[in-house]
Amino acid sequence: MTRVLGIETSCDETSIAVLDGERDDVSLRSLVILSQDVHRVFGGVVPELASRAHLTAVEPVLRDALREARAELASIDAVAVTIGPGLVGALLVGVSFGKALAYALGKPVVGVHHMEGHLFGTSLDDPDAVPPFTALLVSGGHTMLIDVEAWGAYRLLGRTRDDAAGEAFDKVAKLLELPYPGGPHLERLAGAGAKNRVRFARPMLRRDQRPGDDDYYDLSFSGLKTAVLHEVRSPGAGDRGTSSADIALAFQDAVVDTLVEKTARAVEEHARRRVVLGGGVAANRALVGAMRDRMAALGAQVYAPSGRLATDNAAMIARAGLFRLERGERAALDLNAFASLPLPGLTA
Ligand code: KG4
Ligand code: ZN
Repeated sequence: MTRVLGIETSCDETSIAVLDGERDDVSLRSLVILSQDVHRVFGGVVPELASRAHLTAVEPVLRDALREARAELASIDAVAVTIGPGLVGALLVGVSFGKALAYALGKPVVGVHHMEGHLFGTSLDDPDAVPPFTALLVSGGHTMLIDVEAWGAYRLLGRTRDDAAGEAFDKVAKLLELPYPGGPHLERLAGAGAKNRVRFARPMLRRDQRPGDDDYYDLSFSGLKTAVLHEVRSPGAGDRGTSSADIALAFQDAVVDTLVEKTARAVEEHARRRVVLGGGVAANRALVGAMRDRMAALGAQVYAPSGRLATDNAAMIARAGLFRLERGERAALDLNAFASLPLPGLTA
């Protein structure tokens, strides 16, 4: 058994977790997530403020995570820290802190790719969310459809060509004058919308697409965002009786339909029996519900993370770090942070 301390500071959550485990047999001892509130008034994350807030929070968050785990610092076997992708100044706080801790304890440190963390996150809720599976990662910065043969063996099927799914939710929420981050607010507003009063075209989704075509799996959300903008500004909208809730619902339906259909294509082509969702947008109940309905028809089981494990957290980083440690990976003390970083083990 290895006890891993996970650290995540890639964006606006300062998070530390303690996880015990061996291979797929893991138990989460503690998870502390401190969400930075300061960005709310700016309607988006201000990188410099994020770095400063991480600096202030990281040490008390560590104390909290250890207390919750009833663990001494000396009982930690290894440190796993997010090294990218993300805000480089924010990442540097976690990376420097993680390296210093590991050095002081005389224990190894390993760098973790943030999106590999999201791939592992759902398995902390459900031990059956393990490879082989089709993965749909939908976060604020990334949207990827991946075929996962085994942990560490990832085949990229499709990705967004412009905005990430979460980014689209946040931008549309802003258009509808909802607070930041907009995803959960937009989902709530959509709940009050009337079905089919507004309809948007499904981006990058056509029947004549065939496996091997570039656009068979790829996604795009910026055109949809523009379509929403036109609808919001359209002078006749009020007369037609459409409300912002109808628009929110129509937007969410278009995103969900597209994500579900592209995932179904991947499940069919690769004959997978499991679909694992990850990233903040995986907290969206409409997405999860529609995915379950569609996959039931294909005989595939859908695994979706709980809210805390869908959005950014250090538990998923500790879990992915355990995998990397078990593969013998160790970082040197010149370990750095990277704004962009290829997912390790990803092939086209
Ligand atoms: O994975 P995450 O916490 O951070 C990144 O790695 O980017 O994802 C955050 C994103 C935000 O864009 C947020 O609006 C979105 O996930 N999100 C949601 C929901 N909850 C969070 N989007 C749609 N519906 C939700 N319920
Ligand atoms: Zn994330």
